[in-house]
Amino acid sequence: MSATDEIKARLDIVDVVAETVTLKKTGRNYIGFCPFHSNTKTPAFVVFPETQTWRCFGACADGGDLFSFVMKREGYDFKEALRLLAQKAGVQLEEPTPETAQQDEQRHKLLELQAAAATYFHNLLTTSPAGAETRAYLAERELTPETIATFQLGYALDEWEALKNHFLERGYSPDDLLAAGLIVERDDGSPGYDRFRHRLIIPIRDLRGRVIGFGARALAEDQVPKYLNSPQTALFDKSATLYGLDLARKSIRESGQVVIVEGYMDVIQAHQRGGANVVAQMGTALTELQLQRIAKLANKIVLALDSDTAGNAATIRSLSLARQLLPKTTRAMPTSRGIELEAHLIQEIYIAPLPEGKDPDDVLKEGLDVWQQLIDHAKPTLDFYEDLILSQADLATPQGKSFAVRELIPIYREIKDSIEREARVQRLARKIGLDERTLMAELKSKEYQPRPVRQKHRAAVSGSPPPPPEPDLLLPGESSSSPKAAARPDATLERHCLALIITNPAALAVANDRLEKEGVPGLNINDFKQGDNREIFRWLNIWTAAETPKLENLMEMVGELLNGQLAGLASQWHRRPAPPAEDVSRDLSGAILRLRLQSIADQINELTSLQHNTFDSQDNRYYTERVEQYRQERKKLEYTQDALSLIGRRRQEANQFSEPILGKT
Ligand code: UTP
Ligand code: MN
Repeated sequence: MSATDEIKARLDIVDVVAETVTLKKTGRNYIGFCPFHSNTKTPAFVVFPETQTWRCFGACADGGDLFSFVMKREGYDFKEALRLLAQKAGVQLEEPTPETAQQDEQRHKLLELQAAAATYFHNLLTTSPAGAETRAYLAERELTPETIATFQLGYALDEWEALKNHFLERGYSPDDLLAAGLIVERDDGSPGYDRFRHRLIIPIRDLRGRVIGFGARALAEDQVPKYLNSPQTALFDKSATLYGLDLARKSIRESGQVVIVEGYMDVIQAHQRGGANVVAQMGTALTELQLQRIAKLANKIVLALDSDTAGNAATIRSLSLARQLLPKTTRAMPTSRGIELEAHLIQEIYIAPLPEGKDPDDVLKEGLDVWQQLIDHAKPTLDFYEDLILSQADLATPQGKSFAVRELIPIYREIKDSIEREARVQRLARKIGLDERTLMAELKSKEYQPRPVRQKHRAAVSGSPPPPPEPDLLLPGESSSSPKAAARPDATLERHCLALIITNPAALAVANDRLEKEGVPGLNINDFKQGDNREIFRWLNIWTAAETPKLENLMEMVGELLNGQLAGLASQWHRRPAPPAEDVSRDLSGAILRLRLQSIADQINELTSLQHNTFDSQDNRYYTERVEQYRQERKKLEYTQDALSLIGRRRQEANQFSEPILGKT
């Protein structure tokens, strides 16, 4: 896969645009005010997640893909945009700048050190006499040697400078060890001592399985804390990591379900027993980042919470709200105001409370079926919260009813989906034996202000798109949730045009001439929506003007980064002699017209759907005018198509054996 394809597979254009433009979801797409021209009253800037493109239907009448957006926004050329997006996506380009080279080198060195440290600890556990006690401990916890190897568990010696000396002897500097979080600086700033001493070591890996930090469990009774973790480092961000995700990822994707537990040891036991979709949050509450990572892989998110956590109303309440951070889909609903769009959760967070005093480790030891049953009986978070509150309230008394209403109504107010909100109120009314209208009034009253919710929650539930996807989530060769532009007919047509020009460079001028004679502009850079195609076309324009265009020259002009794409387009180059420019240009002018018609059809579709989704009569009028303009343009193009094919047919009659130049690309 080329660097540009890899970047497109990893980044979502919606996220990139949302960095600077406030977007609102409308139907399948996002709309906002165009960042490239001022004084607009109508939101005419549309981002299409399905095709990963954007378009301004207003004054700029421009559009394109991720690359062209960034080029325009930053005023960058293609290479600069490529560099910026590659960095964002974590894609390695062939020619790194000195700064990124240095950063990469530092990262690389840290990763190497963490991997070496994991091996060092693992060897101590499995082979050293000092590791014997921990080997016995793990055996007692019923972990097999295979599991110990899979998770590369280790042992840190009961010494102050064992690891430090080991790695200093191997050429690492104290600074390296500090940056990796493996040693701790002394108060006077001198090089320091080993962070982990006499502990069971649990390497923590990123999604690609690279060691980024460690969790270290105490082995002696009086050792505190029970778990000591690596500090935040350039590699390790606790809030963005889920332990075991590298191993669980495949199973999560296949089953569509993820189970989140609290402890490292729970994950390890689960995997040993066949619970392959289990991961652990990292000793803190589930973060938004973790949730978003996992939401990309799973349809159903089950939290296996110990009975204390599950019984804690504040925690469950915040989870009930956090569920609204999950991806949503919209559907149109008739209301008194007309049709309104409702956001619906595509997935839910479920809670599976563990039996009192047990953690997943214990349940799993009773058997995978016992565990699985518990997971299958998980309840949606908000249902769980309702049950929790109702179980705490004495519903036979007015005070009990009041308590339930006071606890539940504020959270219902936070539900963005009005149907769910009202349905829940109705159900609550039935359950506690109060008139539905009383509760509805309560829902609308301002008397009980909703409790403060974290600002982030608010931003996310009110429809702002989620932050950019973590590059780790997508490995090369995978695409994100939306089907990518490569499969689109116009992307193929764009490439078809480029391939024809390369086949016979003289054809471009002839095709443009022919179009211009019909009053239609020649092929120009704005016909290309894909940034890489656009860049190649830019050079083709110059290249075709040369006296004898040579492929090597074009390769050189376009540069290494796009040479892969170029080679694909130039497959006909070596077919010599080149087909005559007259024939190629006929194909080319046809392809240009089809490309434009395709683009107009897309735009009319999009404008029509925008129209359906707006309640503003001014916007509506604006969209109608634009659609009318596009229809006129379409008519003109169709007319030209007819005119040219008539000419073509006459020619063909004169010359029976004219075959198409290129197969469909
Ligand atoms: P637990 O105490 O439940 O640990 O803490 P556990 O994984 O079940 O370990 P065992 O079974 O007692 O050996 C749950 C998680 O909370 C974090 C760790 O991630 C741990 O796995 N934690 C706990 C810490 O980060 N620091 C601590 O001191 C304790
Ligand atoms: Mn445990």
